[in-house]
Amino acid sequence: MDDRVRRYLEQQVTLGGAEVILPGRPSQEPSRGAVPAEPEAPPLAPTASAREAEPPGGKAKGGADWRTGAPPIPGPGLVVDPPAQDLLTPRGKDYPDLAAIAKAVAACKACFLAEGRTNTVPGEGNPEARLLLVGEGPGQTEDQTGRPFVGRAGELLNDILKAIGFAREEVFICNVVKCRPPQNRKPLPDEMSTCIPFLEAQIDLVRPKVILALGATAAEALLKVRRSLSELRTKVHSYRGVPLVVTYHPAALLRNPNWKKPTWDDVRIARQLVDR
Ligand code: URA
Ligand code: URA
Repeated sequence: MDDRVRRYLEQQVTLGGAEVILPGRPSQEPSRGAVPAEPEAPPLAPTASAREAEPPGGKAKGGADWRTGAPPIPGPGLVVDPPAQDLLTPRGKDYPDLAAIAKAVAACKACFLAEGRTNTVPGEGNPEARLLLVGEGPGQTEDQTGRPFVGRAGELLNDILKAIGFAREEVFICNVVKCRPPQNRKPLPDEMSTCIPFLEAQIDLVRPKVILALGATAAEALLKVRRSLSELRTKVHSYRGVPLVVTYHPAALLRNPNWKKPTWDDVRIARQLVDR
């Protein structure tokens, strides 16, 4: 690709335009939450504004904290109310605490994903967290350990949390599906809908101040729409009365560093909502 075209496209992304997939080496192994079939972006020199933005993984300049240059809280987006039929569905309301959900998850054989799992990965963290994060589903390391976001994407997530002043233990981290899909493929619609009562029950019990959806799968599952990530970002959606912000999946950031700046903006919006 012509260098000028590439630079122009990068700039559009940095300025908040739609995602573009720049041609590059095909990736070896799909990683959880990244867009599997897409070619991996080559390492790119950071643009000037990407350098200013820093965190996701980097260091803020001159000891500046997350408030420096944080974007204003955007306007409202989609609203998801509990569907009327939910009131008749006992499952989400049936658990006294998070441990009871984890136990039910461990015993669950309701979908195909149960067959291939080593461990279930119910989620973990502070039962009174103000911030609840939702990923797509366990990857290999998560399947082996039974813990969410402990692989490379998890390390980046820890750094991102730290940059907005949260220790991992302070928040609650979970996924749409609690068992690893084969080859880290995106969970199928029936797998997501079978598993989502567990997530809904977790959200009901934790009652966070803010939900952060990591990547398009989590956003789709919670907001019940299929839209591109760029359409869902930079709005404050409402999920059963809880403000919900959508950002890129950390695994996607590992593949495309151009998404780090918009992610840094998104998480600073979420951080402000926690304080509001
Ligand atoms: N990616 C996810 O979506 N969830 C995890 O727990 C780990 C990686
Ligand atoms: N598309 C996704 O599904 N997730 C991301 O994080 C970015 C693009």
